[in-house]
Amino acid sequence: MKSTTSGSEKKASRLSVPVITLDGPTASGKGTVAAQVAKRLGFHVLDSGLLYRVLALAARHHGVADTNEPALQVLAAHLDVQFPCDHAGETRVTLEGEEVSRTLRKEWVGMAASRVAVLPGVRVALLNRQRAFQELPGLVADGRDMGTIVFPEADLKIYITATADARAERRYRQLLEKGFSASLADLTEDIRQRDERDMQRSVAPLRAAADSVHIDTTLMNIPEVVDTVLSHVRQHVLLSRFLSTGSW
Ligand code: DC
Repeated sequence: MKSTTSGSEKKASRLSVPVITLDGPTASGKGTVAAQVAKRLGFHVLDSGLLYRVLALAARHHGVADTNEPALQVLAAHLDVQFPCDHAGETRVTLEGEEVSRTLRKEWVGMAASRVAVLPGVRVALLNRQRAFQELPGLVADGRDMGTIVFPEADLKIYITATADARAERRYRQLLEKGFSASLADLTEDIRQRDERDMQRSVAPLRAAADSVHIDTTLMNIPEVVDTVLSHVRQHVLLSRFLSTGSW
C-alpha cells in the first residue's frame, strides 16, 4: 500500500519523538549505559556501532574488501539485518537469517567496522536506517556521530569519555568474562588505533557536539554513569517545562 505521509510530515512527526544521544570512543561503556538508560525510561535503543559491525561482517561473507567503497555502499543499502529482542530483552542480531550476535563482538569485527566507517558513501547509506529507530516513546542512540550528524536536533546530548588505559582494562575484563581470550597490551594498542581512526577521519569524526554534556567515566562504575545520565535527563525535562510554561 502506498503511504500518504509526505517526507516533511514524517520529519515533523520524528521531531516530536524525544532522542538522547550518547557518543564517545570505543569501550567507553556507552553501549551498556545506553541500554540501561533506555530500559529505565522505557525508550528504544540504537547501538549504531552494531550496524557498522554488521556491514563489516557482511563484507567478509561476500568477499568485499573493506576499502571497496562502491561495493560496500550497495551492501549497506541492501543489508538483510534484524535486531529482534530475545525473552531476556537482549538484542540478538541476525544477518541474512544467521545469528551473528557473538561474532559481532569480536575485536577483528570492531577493527573492520572502524575501517568501513571512514568511507563517506557507507555513512550516507546507513543514515536513514539509523534515523528510522526514532520512534515513540523515545530513543537512546549511542555511537560516534549521533549528536553531531545523525540526530543533530536531539533533546539531550551526552559525550562519554575515559582514558585509553581504563577502557582497555574494561574491555579486557569483559572479554574474559564472556569466555574469549585476550591480551591487555594488544587491546590497548587496538583502542589507540581505533581512537585515532575514528577521530581523524574526514567524514563524521568522533567529536563531542558543541551542545553536549561531558561525563568522564574513568573513575566511575556503570550504575554511577547511568544515574548521572538520568539526572541530566531530569534536569532537561524540568528546564524544558520551565521554558514552555514559565514555572517549575
Ligand atoms: O561502538 P563500536 O565499537 O561497536 O563501533 C565499531 C566501529 O564503528 C567504530 O570503531 C567506529 C564505527 N562507528 C562509527 O563510525 N559511527 C558510529 N556512529 C558508530 C560506530
